Amino acid sequence: MKRQLEAIKNQAMEKLARVSDIRELEDLKVAYLGKKGELTGILKKMGALSPEERPVIGQLANEVRFALEESIAQTKDRLIKEERSIRLKSETIDVTMPGRIKPIGKKHPLTIVLDELKDIFLGMGYEIAEGPEIELDYNNFEALNIPKNHPARDTQDTFYISENVVLRTHTSPVQIRHMQSHKPPIRIICPGRVYRSDAVDATHSPVFHQVEGLVVDKNVTMGDLVGTLQAFAKGIFGENSRIRLRPHHFPFTEPSAEVDVSCWGCDGSGCRICKGEGWVEILGSGMVHPNVLRECGIDPDVYSGFAFGMGIERIAMGKFGIDDMRLLFENDIRFLRQF
Ligand code: DAH
Repeated sequence: MKRQLEAIKNQAMEKLARVSDIRELEDLKVAYLGKKGELTGILKKMGALSPEERPVIGQLANEVRFALEESIAQTKDRLIKEERSIRLKSETIDVTMPGRIKPIGKKHPLTIVLDELKDIFLGMGYEIAEGPEIELDYNNFEALNIPKNHPARDTQDTFYISENVVLRTHTSPVQIRHMQSHKPPIRIICPGRVYRSDAVDATHSPVFHQVEGLVVDKNVTMGDLVGTLQAFAKGIFGENSRIRLRPHHFPFTEPSAEVDVSCWGCDGSGCRICKGEGWVEILGSGMVHPNVLRECGIDPDVYSGFAFGMGIERIAMGKFGIDDMRLLFENDIRFLRQF
C-alpha cells in the first residue's frame, strides 16, 4: 500500500507538471482527490489494515494528499499567470505605431469657386436667393424683356418642356422671382444650375452653373456696379486683378457691359490663357432695364439697380488652369484630388 501511495504521488506530480490549462487541472484534481479518485480509493481500503499499519499508512496518505493539494494550488497559480501573460501579449497596444490614414474628400473645383464667391458677396451684405431649374417661359424670358419673337432667344438654345415651361437657360429668372416677392433694398446672388441644348465639347456643356447678382435700391449707379465687380475680381483672382467694361447688349439691362478681368496668367501682357489679349471675359452685366423693374412692380423713377451674371465653369477653368470643361463633370478622382 505504501508503494501504491508513492506511485500515485509520483504519477500525479508528473502529470501536474505537464498540465497546460485550468480545465485539465480540474480533471486531474477530480481524478486523484475526488470522491471516486485514486487516492480516495486507497483510503477506503484502510479498514483492512492491521491496527499497527493503519496510523503509518494514514499519515503517509495524508502527506500525499497535502502534497497533491499544494502542487495543484501551485499549478493553478502558474496557469493563471501564463494565461495572463498570453493575454497581455496579444492585447498590447503599440502606441508608436502610425495611425490609419483615412482618405479625406476634397471640394470639387466648382464648389471651391462657389464658396469663395459666396464669401465675397455675403461679406458685402448680399443674401443668397434660389429658384427652380424648371422655369416658366415668363420668368426666363418675357419678364426679362425678351418677348416671344425676340432674337435673343435664339442665342440661348432652350430646352422647352412645354410652350410655356422651359429648363432655365440662365439664373436671371431668379431676379424676377425675387423682385416680385421682395421690396427694395435688394442685394442678392443666385447660384444655380442652368441648361442649354449645346453639344458637349471643351468649352460647352448642356448643363452648367451660373451665379446671378442683383442690387436694387435708390441711387444705385454704374459706379456701384464697377466697384462691386472690382472687389469681386480681386477676391477671386487676386489683389492685382483689374477689370474693364466693354459695351454690350442684353435685353434686361440698359446700359449693358461685358466685363473682362486682367489675365491672371500674364497680368495683362498677353499669354496663352488670354490668347495674347491680356484680358479674359468673365461676365455680363448692366443697369437693370426699366421695363424689368416695372414688370416686377418696382418704380424705375424711384429705384435703380444693377445686375450681373457669370458662368462658374469658366471662372473655375481660368482660376485653376483647366483647359477642358468635361474634366469638371467626369469626376475622375485623379483630377479631383489635385484641388
Ligand atoms: N443671363 C446672362 C446669360 O446667361 C448673363 C447676364 C448678363 C446676367 C447681364 C445679368 C446681366 O444679370 O445683367 O448670358
